[in-house]
Amino acid sequence: MSEPAVIGRVAGKVALVTGAASGIGAESARRLAAEGAAVVVADLAAEAGEALAGAINEAGGTAMFLALDVTDQARWGAVVQAVLDHFGRLDVLVTCAGISGDRPLLKGRYDVWKRIMAVNLDGTYLGLAAVAPVMAAAGRGSIVTISSIAGKAGIAGAPAYCASKGGVALLTKAAAAELAPLGVRVNSIHPGFIETPMVLNSLAADPNGAARRAAQASRHPVGRYGRPREIADGVVFLASDESSFMTGSELVIDGGYTAV
Ligand SMILES: NC(=O)c1ccc[n+]([C@@H]2O[C@H](COP(=O)([O-])OP(=O)(O)OC[C@H]3O[C@@H](n4cnc5c(N)ncnc54)[C@H](O)[C@@H]3O)[C@@H](O)[C@H]2O)c1
Repeated sequence: MSEPAVIGRVAGKVALVTGAASGIGAESARRLAAEGAAVVVADLAAEAGEALAGAINEAGGTAMFLALDVTDQARWGAVVQAVLDHFGRLDVLVTCAGISGDRPLLKGRYDVWKRIMAVNLDGTYLGLAAVAPVMAAAGRGSIVTISSIAGKAGIAGAPAYCASKGGVALLTKAAAAELAPLGVRVNSIHPGFIETPMVLNSLAADPNGAARRAAQASRHPVGRYGRPREIADGVVFLASDESSFMTGSELVIDGGYTAV
């Protein structure tokens, strides 16, 4: 007997993507929609988020924008409820919202540390805590967190960013262990340097940006930065049922950065 026709690798699923107005989150939202998911574009940046949701709808997909500050626990509750009210289900959470802007320890500022931890780590925790009860009650779900190569090894000058991304990796494993018996999978993605506004804006503001880019690119054995699409393809895989036996795992997409 042939399998029923399914249009798209995540067809029928509803996916909530944070940080979806830019970079990796935006490309993940586009790819999930192209593969058949209804996508909730969630971000602080309303204009870019609305524009992306509009573009997905115009291209024949299904998307809506919801304003979300991932550090705001009450807003997380309202967003998840809005998704359920509108779509009646929530199958996938992708936590792309994140910030960099770290300072070296020797020039450290506690306020910078706290802000990076609040967005990258607390924001991921609040997202997991908001969606876990919904997914557990449904007996299904896939959560994809975005850690980093900076969650696997230290990067000089980035103590808070590394600590936040290491925290995301272990938060992911703890959540995976807790939620696996309930049918919910939780996996992390660890990108190398990717061509997104986060990285490109920082290079543009640096008089030595070109040299810094060349040095960073050469740390990747493939010799270049990655592209948002190369991370979004991993997001779609982990969101889809193709990865049904994966939970608590680290999908490293880094051009070989951590291999050498
Ligand atoms: N670009 C890279 O090289 C790279 C490498 C490894 C990991 N990452 C991670 O990937 C994720 C996406 O990064 P990107 O490179 O696409 O960056 P980006 O700056 O292009 O996009 C980040 C998005 O997050 C949103 N955001 C920031 N703070 C928020 C908040 N409090 N609430 C809601 N939204 C918020 C921003 O508005 C923006 O749209 C981040 O977690 C980042 O740390 C990026």
